[in-house]
Amino acid sequence: MFIAMNRFRVAPGAEADFEHMWLTRDVYLRTVPGFESFQLLRGPAGEDHVLYASHTVWATKAAFEDWTRSQSFRDAHRNAGQATTRSLYNGPPQFEGFEVLQTVDRE
Ligand code: HEM
Repeated sequence: MFIAMNRFRVAPGAEADFEHMWLTRDVYLRTVPGFESFQLLRGPAGEDHVLYASHTVWATKAAFEDWTRSQSFRDAHRNAGQATTRSLYNGPPQFEGFEVLQTVDRE
């Protein structure tokens, strides 16, 4: 299993626009091979930003990497990184990928 996270530092005052953009987007993930689940996370507020993260769970690292080269990735990012949305952020997102070493589920 592989977890891919992108952390966003959202400028104070831009939280509602950021959340609206994400919560009303077209989702292209549901039928991607190896995709398991997605969460949009809101974290703590710092002095100059509010931390958010996109969190995806994949069957394998290879499935995640295949998605990053797929049309559904390009479709999902058609509007990402443009000047109009850049003002929502304090800097570019920070990506982190994790190999899952252990999973514990409720019985
Ligand atoms: C390997 C790097 C990246 C990963 C793992 C990633 C992850 C994701 C995921 C899982 C989604 C949702 C896709 C869907 O629902 O179909 C998404 C959408 C989005 N990503 Fe990324 N992303 C990456 C790179 C970037 C970069 C570089 C930016 C900013 C420049 C960005 C900004 C966004 C935005 C704003 C959306 C929502 C799109 C919209 O509603 O128009 N992502 N990303």
